[in-house]
Amino acid sequence: MINLSSDDYRTTMIERIARSSSPYDAQQKVEQLQNEIVALRNRLEQLEFQHNRDLIATSGSDNLDQSQTKRFTKIKLLPYSKKRRILISGGAGFVGSHLVDRLMTDGHEVIVADNFCTGRRRNIEHWLGHPNFELLHHDIVNSLHVEVDEIYHLASPASPPHYMDNAVKTIKTNTIGTINMLGLAKRVGARILIASTSEVYGDPTVHPQREDYWGHVNPIGPRSCYDEGKRVAESLTIAYKKQEMLNVRIARIFNTYGPRMLVNDGRVVSNFISQALMGNPLTVYGNGEQTRSFQYVDDLIDGLVRLMASNYSMPVNLGNPDEYTINRFAMIVVRLVNGTVVKRENLLKHGPKPQDDPSRRRPDISLARRVLNWHPNVSLADGLAYTIEYFRSELRLSMGQQAKSVN
Ligand SMILES: NC(=O)c1ccc[n+]([C@@H]2O[C@H](COP(=O)([O-])OP(=O)(O)OC[C@H]3O[C@@H](n4cnc5c(N)ncnc54)[C@H](O)[C@@H]3O)[C@@H](O)[C@H]2O)c1
Repeated sequence: MINLSSDDYRTTMIERIARSSSPYDAQQKVEQLQNEIVALRNRLEQLEFQHNRDLIATSGSDNLDQSQTKRFTKIKLLPYSKKRRILISGGAGFVGSHLVDRLMTDGHEVIVADNFCTGRRRNIEHWLGHPNFELLHHDIVNSLHVEVDEIYHLASPASPPHYMDNAVKTIKTNTIGTINMLGLAKRVGARILIASTSEVYGDPTVHPQREDYWGHVNPIGPRSCYDEGKRVAESLTIAYKKQEMLNVRIARIFNTYGPRMLVNDGRVVSNFISQALMGNPLTVYGNGEQTRSFQYVDDLIDGLVRLMASNYSMPVNLGNPDEYTINRFAMIVVRLVNGTVVKRENLLKHGPKPQDDPSRRRPDISLARRVLNWHPNVSLADGLAYTIEYFRSELRLSMGQQAKSVN
C-alpha cells in the first residue's frame, strides 16, 4: 500500500496562503491547491490499483483484499468548495442505491445509513472500499451522529407487504426516525430532503393530484401505518422549518420502478414482470380498471437532486403523469416480455381488490416543471425494457442458486 498523507500539503498550503497579498488571492490559491490535492488523490488511487494488479500478476495470488484491487466507476473530480458530504438514510434500498450512484459519480462523499430490513448490501457493494463512500449498518429509530452538509432521508419500507408486515416499526421509522434525521440536520446545519409519497393523497377524490390537495386517507386502515406515517413526517418537516429555521425539501414520490426493485416485493411492476417471465398469468386485483402512473427511477433521481439544489421548501410531486389502467399496463408488460400480443383472458387472473386501494393515481407535475424545470424523460417502453432485463438476470441467478442447493 502506498502511503501519502495530505498533512504536508496542508502545511505548505497554509504557508503559501499566509504569504498571499489579499483575501481574494488567498481564496483562489486555496481552491487551486484543493484541486491539486483531488488530482493527486486520484492519481494515487490509480497507482495503487496498478500496483496491486502487478502484484497479482507476479505472485499469481488472488488472496489480496478485494477493496484494494477493485475498479470503481469513474467519478467527477470536484474541488473541495463544491464537494459535499451527504447522508442517505435507506441508501441500500431500491431508490437509495440509485441516488448513491448519482451522487458518487457526481464526485461527492456519500454516507449510507441502513438497517437492511428491505435494502441489500448488493445494491451498493460496487462502492465499498471507495474513499468517498461509507456504509453504516444503522437503524434510524436510534439517533445518529455524523457531520454532513446534506441529508436525503429515504429510510422506510415502501411496498405494501413490507410496510404492513410490521406496522408499528413502519410508524416508528417514519416518526421517530424522521425526528432523528431532522434533529441531526438541525445540529450540524445540514439541508434535508424527506422522501414522502403520493400515498399522502390516499384514495384521492381529486384528479390529477396537485400538492394543494389534502388527501383522503383512512387513519385506521391497513395502509395507514405508511400513509399516516408519511403525513406525520411531512408535518414534522414543516414544523422544523418554521420553528428551527431548518432548510427542508419534501418530495412526494409517485410509483417508481426500475432495476434493483426486489423481485418479490409485491408491487405491481415487480409482480407483473416476474409472473410474465415465469410464464404465469398476471394477478390483477379488483377489475383492473384502477389507474396508476409509473415513473422510471432515473427520472426520480434527477428530480430529487434538482429539488435538493432548489430553494423550494414546500412539497413537490415527482412522478410520471402518463396514466394507465392496470389491465392495460399488464398487457404492455406481457407484450414486452413475450414479444407477442396475446388475448387478455388467457393472461390475467383476478384477485380481490385490497382495502383502501386507490382507484386513480396521477400526479400533476406543473409545480415541478415550474420550480425545478423537471419532467420525466424515460418512456414506459424503455424503462420497462431495462427493468425486465434486470429481473431476467435476477430470476436466472436465483434459479441457479436453487439448483446448486439441491445438488
Ligand atoms: N419506490 C416507490 O415507488 C416510492 C414511492 C413513493 C415513495 N417512496 C419512498 O422512497 C423511499 C425509498 O423507497 P424504496 O422504493 O427505495 O424502498 P426500499 O424498501 O427499497 O428502500 C428503503 C430502504 O430503507 C431502509 N430502511 C427501512 N427502515 C429503516 C430504518 N428504520 N433504519 C434504517 N434503514 C431503514 C431499508 O432497509 C431500505 O434499504 C421510501 O421512503 C419510500 O417511502 C418510494
